[in-house]
Amino acid sequence: MPDVMVEVRGLAKTYRRADGSEVQAVRGIDLDIYKGEIFSMLGPNGAGKTTTISMISGLLAPTAGRATIGGFSITTQGMQAKKLLGVVPQEIALYPTLSARQNLEFFGRMYGMGGRELQKNVDEVLDFTDLKERQKDRVETFSGGMKRRVNIGVGLLHKPQLVYMDEPTVGVDPQSRRRILDTVIRLREERQMTVLYTTHLMEEAQELSNRVGIVDHGQMIALGTVGELIQKVGEDDRLILNIGEQSVPDSVRTRLLQEVPGVSTIEFAPPPPTNGNEHPANSQLTILAQRGRRALPVIIQIVNEARIDILSVEVREPDLEAVFLQLTGRALRD
Ligand SMILES: Nc1ncnc2c1ncn2[C@@H]1O[C@H](COP(=O)(O)OP(=O)(O)O)[C@@H](O)[C@H]1O
Ligand SMILES: [Mg+2]
Repeated sequence: MPDVMVEVRGLAKTYRRADGSEVQAVRGIDLDIYKGEIFSMLGPNGAGKTTTISMISGLLAPTAGRATIGGFSITTQGMQAKKLLGVVPQEIALYPTLSARQNLEFFGRMYGMGGRELQKNVDEVLDFTDLKERQKDRVETFSGGMKRRVNIGVGLLHKPQLVYMDEPTVGVDPQSRRRILDTVIRLREERQMTVLYTTHLMEEAQELSNRVGIVDHGQMIALGTVGELIQKVGEDDRLILNIGEQSVPDSVRTRLLQEVPGVSTIEFAPPPPTNGNEHPANSQLTILAQRGRRALPVIIQIVNEARIDILSVEVREPDLEAVFLQLTGRALRD
């Protein structure tokens, strides 16, 4: 059994609005986060990710349930628990007129650091987040991505073993996103840190995580490695052949099902009707197959032998988006 860094049991939060109505933001979450892993909470906006993070970092009192960090209760042993923990909040909290270095020094003092230790940690963090060259510039002159990196630096200053990062790539350009994702990976690889990462982007969860918990409406509806989660929806690849305006005779369907190993389902979609002015769209032949790429040459041969022209082929491997769709009936991005 791996060592458990964070243990969450029956965690729940009901917000009460000013008008007296209630919002059940988190509805009984159980979770173990193992030492040294990147664990992602993946879920759409409003799923309860930030509320969960706030409770298990001691910022928000739960309505029910409990959480421990390194065995210390976040509510009754908050001091010991928080020593192990760094938090990178969803909202950037920095002083715009101070430089990157001054911001880090300020937050470091708030954590109780000072003197040479503080300067050393600030230098290390500036180095790790690649902000050394811009350390003396005011944060208000920084791009969204650079501000994010200072924000991440603040969370790492006191050298925690564990860090929570709440949607750290929202609102940054693709290049900065890449840098942030690489930073997260380096936390695990170079520092053996434990990371709890939240996102609504399945690509991020898929790339980063040792394990993923899918959250929706305040509940963890699935939990496992990416591979385990994808197994839940079946591992078939989806091969989409665009074939002009042609139709597909039954003999081709039969051959595909009988002669290609791993093919389970054939779907045919005729071109959608046009209003007369547009170019007619393509028909699509969709084939579900295990190890789709390997099956593709034989599939193409069978289709060609029926004198059906293939205009293009798309191979879609099963992903977390498909898992979410199957579990909830909705797309993650809705
Ligand atoms: N302070 C609050 N008061 C009332 N409702 C809130 C408050 N904060 C969040 N909520 C609601 O709780 C739900 C979960 O929100 P949140 O934890 O921010 O989700 P996520 O971070 O996954 O987007 C949402 O329906 C949100 O509107
Ligand atoms: Mg949030």
